[in-house]
Amino acid sequence: MRIGILTGGGDCPGLNAVIRAVVLTARLRHGDDTIGFLDGWRGPLEANAVTLNEERCRDLLAMGGTVLGTSRTNPFAVDGGPEKLRANLEELGVDALVVVGGEDTLGVAHKLGDFGVQVVGVPKTIDNDLSATDVTFGFETAVQTASDAIDRLRTTAESHHRVIVCEVMGRHTGWIATHAGIAGGAAEILVPEVPFDVDTVCERLRRRHATGQFSSVVVVSEGALPAEGPDLESARLAGSSEAKDQFGHARLGGIGRWLAAEIEARTGYESRETTLGHIQRGGTPTAFDRVLATRFGVEAVTAVHDGDFGKMVALRGTRIVRVPISEAVAQAKTVDLELYRDVAGVFLG
Ligand code: F6P
Repeated sequence: MRIGILTGGGDCPGLNAVIRAVVLTARLRHGDDTIGFLDGWRGPLEANAVTLNEERCRDLLAMGGTVLGTSRTNPFAVDGGPEKLRANLEELGVDALVVVGGEDTLGVAHKLGDFGVQVVGVPKTIDNDLSATDVTFGFETAVQTASDAIDRLRTTAESHHRVIVCEVMGRHTGWIATHAGIAGGAAEILVPEVPFDVDTVCERLRRRHATGQFSSVVVVSEGALPAEGPDLESARLAGSSEAKDQFGHARLGGIGRWLAAEIEARTGYESRETTLGHIQRGGTPTAFDRVLATRFGVEAVTAVHDGDFGKMVALRGTRIVRVPISEAVAQAKTVDLELYRDVAGVFLG
């Protein structure tokens, strides 16, 4: 059998560990060949692929990024894209495609099923916003990076008696902000799921500072916004670009800077802002993410051999299971409000 693999969307620590697991499981357990398509869906669209073998897998386990490259190419945004892609797979003798991606990449995988392309999905995103799996690999690494950064921001904030706003990734959901905020002991955690009120945030900071805390770290997701009201429009303009990618997403970033300026103007507390950005996506995966990525890769190949197409491998509790890709991409997995309000909420303000 010949298996194809591609990595699409934003990169994520652990992608190379999945590639390694797929290639080695395919070869050592089943005697299969694996070819890797370059740069996400652009690879099969342009028939751009490389042979992957055991030699190529050496050193991949701990390596960040993806050796296959990635892109946000959408074959359904290209005239005749799905048909061309299917023809290229046939010509290259690819029997099944393992697609490692988030909502957009897996959304394409799901739709390609209707074109007769045999796919198995592997969930990846540092944002952890894919449904049908408890967690995606890459998330834990991103949270560790963000909470390390918050620890560092805290000491400089304390020395200067400042408020520091730390903007973290999270386009639709605040998983990174919530987990890193809890781990880092943030004074405020602002997430896309719960629109905030700037005056309330300022009031809570004042109360906190009145009790003798002369510094605060505020963690905000890039996708968080104030509630309906006078602040919403200016925050929205500050926090996203007009340009959109092929899946219709604006580039986010800027809400942290906007918020720090508002806090300083309204409270008089000297404020600074740090955007962690792509630092959260780069670098070596944590041990947890390496193990999860490896388990996903092994199971994806097993699913291919079972002919279980249209499925995504997923973590449920401690077990790896298979779920319909349609379930994973139906809607974003938003932050558990019990965690946000009942756990994080105890320590905020
Ligand atoms: O992969 C998800 C994500 O990291 C989002 O959190 C973020 O908004 C986006 O990717 C950034 O994408 P890009 O790398 O295209 O700037």
